[in-house]
This record gives sequence, structure tokens and C-alpha cells, in this order.
Amino acid sequence: MRIAVVGSGYVGLVAGVCFADVGHDVIVLDNDEGKLAALQNGEVPIHENFLPELLNRHRGRRLTFSGDLQEAVRLSSVIFVAVGTPPTESGEADLSYVESVAREISGAVNGYKLIVEKSTVPVYTSEWVRKIILRNGTNPEMFDVASNPEFLREGTAVTDFLFPDRIVIGCDSERAAQLLREIYMPLTDGSYYRRPAAIPQPDRTTIPPAITVTSTKSAELIKHASNAFLAMKISFINAVATICELVGANVDQVVHGIGTDTRIGPRFLNPGIGYGGSCFPKDVMAFRAVARECGYEFRLLDEVVRINEEQRQRFLRKVRSALWTLRGKKLGVLGLAFKGGTDDIRESPAIFLVQALLQEGCGVAAYDPAAMQRAREIVTSGIKFVSSAYEAARDADALLILTEWEEFSHLDLNRIRQELRYPIVIDGRNLYDPEAMAAQGFTYYSVGRAACHPDGAPALKNGLRNGNKA
Ligand code: UDX
Ligand code: UDX
Repeated sequence: MRIAVVGSGYVGLVAGVCFADVGHDVIVLDNDEGKLAALQNGEVPIHENFLPELLNRHRGRRLTFSGDLQEAVRLSSVIFVAVGTPPTESGEADLSYVESVAREISGAVNGYKLIVEKSTVPVYTSEWVRKIILRNGTNPEMFDVASNPEFLREGTAVTDFLFPDRIVIGCDSERAAQLLREIYMPLTDGSYYRRPAAIPQPDRTTIPPAITVTSTKSAELIKHASNAFLAMKISFINAVATICELVGANVDQVVHGIGTDTRIGPRFLNPGIGYGGSCFPKDVMAFRAVARECGYEFRLLDEVVRINEEQRQRFLRKVRSALWTLRGKKLGVLGLAFKGGTDDIRESPAIFLVQALLQEGCGVAAYDPAAMQRAREIVTSGIKFVSSAYEAARDADALLILTEWEEFSHLDLNRIRQELRYPIVIDGRNLYDPEAMAAQGFTYYSVGRAACHPDGAPALKNGLRNGNKA
């Protein structure tokens, strides 16, 4: 099938490349000429597993890039809209890009078109898109608007797309549902997975994926409700981690104990420094705003946000309590991306913490495997970007782990200890076992677990080894 994908950001580019891999002819569009030129020249603009291979495989063949939206609409039967929906001051989603794309599409309808929202949008957006297209004089028989939310995590976006838990298609006509079923058929009938060149199946996935057909509004809600629920799960466990610290329990044990209840499940129960990224913070606020607009005060979501913000402050207090005073302290920082496996620093709690520590007068030597270039544009003074975890640790008063990169969970700890001025590790992602760290000679602080000291005594609050919980 001929498909147009409008917007070549994280979502649009991954969707376009994966649709091509599944077997469709895809035009990916963007109104940013610089981005387009880079894509046309073979550059890979984001750090995403399997993206370089797939771009290489399909670029110039089943996959092309263009800035001409109207021509792409004329050539395609299905148009996916994946432009940004950034938050406004009041937390609502700014839908002006979606609106301008809808207006432009309406000027190029030369046969039946299915317009599919891929961006995360509030419920009722499809109605608005429909109204805009009708307002511009398009015959109502000539188009449908559907919702096909994405559930892509950055870093694993390609495999999330090709091996999803479920595919949700929200449509209000059988014709639209049929077209979307057809697009995803190679996944839902399993034929894609039998191809020799198929991307390998990741663990914990079931093939073929289930397809859920709903009304358009339900699909719009499924997206917001899924992200809000996952954010809530993270805030919930972060709150439980705080209680663990207060009473001397171990959050790992609690997570295991509750996560093995199949009704709860173990995933997205990792405590840390709070969620970040381009989706959860924005979507929780947008869902809150949408609920209010519809007449419901979704106060639970206020609390999810509050706990998330508090989690960063708690971590700062932890650093302060480990080091006593901050001015003039030299800190090694591991991780700047909002999570492991990506170069994205949007709403990154790591960046927030680095900025707060710089503000307090600390010197920071930071390392991230992929996000340093982006971080350089945002954090410009007081920070030194270095090229390895060991260099970050060199002569530092403490080492902070802020992003859950896989490579940070198997560091050469002997070397780290030798590089550090003081063997103090403050781990915002719980990548290490506290007792093992103490045995390796570290004073080790983490989230929801008692701090540990090299000689086995529980570590110190404000430097005093008195058995208090940090
Ligand atoms: C975006 C939304 O922010 C997210 O909520 C949604 O689920 C999917 O789309 P992302 O892909 O990360 O996520 O956004 P971004 O990286 O900002 O990419 C959007 C792209 O659309 C940019 O490349 C931008 O240049 C392009 N764009 C924007 C257009 O082509 N036309 C426009 O009118 C506006
Ligand atoms: C998210 C959703 O997972 C995806 O389905 C959606 O469509 C887009 O938004 P993404 O933002 O890429 O994906 O990252 P995700 O893996 O969900 O992590 C979001 C944030 O939560 C990160 O900052 C991560 O570090 C944090 N997190 C995640 C935790 O703190 N604990 C966890 O257990 C899981």
C-alpha cells in the first residue's frame, strides 16, 4: 500500500521505516528542510536500535523523503500524522501543527483518503480534524479520520513497532478499519516474522500481535490512559521506595513481592529519579487538561506529577546528605539521556539534576554514551563532557548514576574506585546491589534501599555513621 507519514521525528521516522520493512511504499514528510536534506543524504538523525539498518535497506526504494505534503497525499491512500503535539503553558496539547497538516491535506484529496492520527492527541482531535477537512470543502465520502496510537519506547522503538503487545486501531467506518487491518496484516498474520530478513524477535514478546479495533475516541483515550497509567505505576513505586527508606525496608524485595502478582506485573516498577522524556510528562498533563475540559477533575494525575517532581528533589537531598556541602564539590555524572538506550534529553531528570547541582556550585564531569551532543546545547557552563565513565569518576568527590544505560550496570568497579577521590556512589537508578557495592569498598546510596558503607555498617546521614537511614 502507498502510505504517507507526516513528521519525521522519533515517531514518524520509526513508523515510516517500519511500514517500509513490512512491505509498503512509504513517503515520509517533514517541513524542516534541514532534517529532510539529512535524511535524503543517508544520515540517521536519532539513536535508535535497528534504525540505521532499516533506513539503509529501504531508503530510495520503498522509502522516500519529501517536503511536498500535497503531492504525497495525492499519491497515497493512507496518511499518518505524526507531527509534534507539544504542551502549552497550561499543560494542554498544542494541536496547531495537526490542524495545519489537516488543512493542507484537505487541499489535495483526489480520491478516498484515510487520515490516521499517530501523534498523541486528546480525545476529540479526530472530530476536529474531520471538521477542518470538511470546512475546506472536501466531500465527506472522500475521507475518514482514524486513530492508531503508537506505544513506542525510545531506544526500542523499532522492535516495539514490529513486535507490539497489541495494535490499536480506532475507526468509525468499516472501510477505514479494513485499510488499517490490511496495513498491519503482515504482522497480525505472522508472515512478516517468517521472512529471513525480519528484525529478530525480542524477549517477552508474543507473535503474532493482537489487534484491537475500537471507536476513534476510544483509541485516542487508550493512548493517553496507557501513558498516564504507566507514569502512575512509576510514581507509585517511587512513593513506596520513599516509605522503604523511612522504615528500612528494601524496595527490590517489595517490587518482587508485588510484581509477581500477575494482576500487577513487574514491569515499569523500577524506582529511580522519576520519569522524563517527551511523552510521560506531556501526556499526563494533557490527559489531566482533557479530563478537566470534559468536566472531570482527574486529581490522581496531579499527585502522579507531584511525586515525580519530589523524586528529583529527594535525590538532590540524598546527594547533599552524602556530601554535606555542595559548593566546590566535584561530581562525576553517568547519564544525561532521560533513559538508557536513547540520545533524547527532553524532560530528562538527569539534565534537571545536573543543572540543579551546577546551580549549587558543584563542578560536574559527565558522560553519556549517546546524549552528550544534545546535552552540550543545553548545559553550557560549569560542566565538562568526558569520554568514559572512568574519566567522569576521575578525582570526583562522588559518582552519580542518573540514567539506566546497560553499560553503567557492569562497570569495572575496581577501576572506578581507584579513579574516585572518595569511593562514594549515589545511584539514582538502582543498578547495583548495595551489599556488593559495600564489599567493593564503596559508600553506596540508592533509591528505596538502605545506604551501605564499606565496612558493612549502615551508612551515614550527614557523614555520621549512627545507623540512621539515609
Ligand atoms: C511527536 C509528538 O510529540 C508525540 O506526542 C506524538 O505521539 C508523535 O509525534 P516526536 O516524533 O518525538 O513525537 O516529535 P518530534 O521529534 O518533534 O517530530 C515531529 C516532526 O514533525 C518534526 O520533525 C517536525 O519538523 C515535523 N513537523 C512538524 C512537520 O513536518 N510539519 C509540521 O507542521 C510540524
Ligand atoms: C513512553 C511509553 O512507554 C511508550 O509506550 C509511549 O508510546 C511513549 O512514551 P518512552 O518515553 O520512550 O516511552 O520511555 P519509557 O521507557 O516509557 O520511560 C519513560 C521514563 O520513565 C524514563 O525516564 C524512564 O527512565 C522512566 N522509568 C521507566 C522509570 O523511572 N521506571 C520504570 O520502571 C520505567
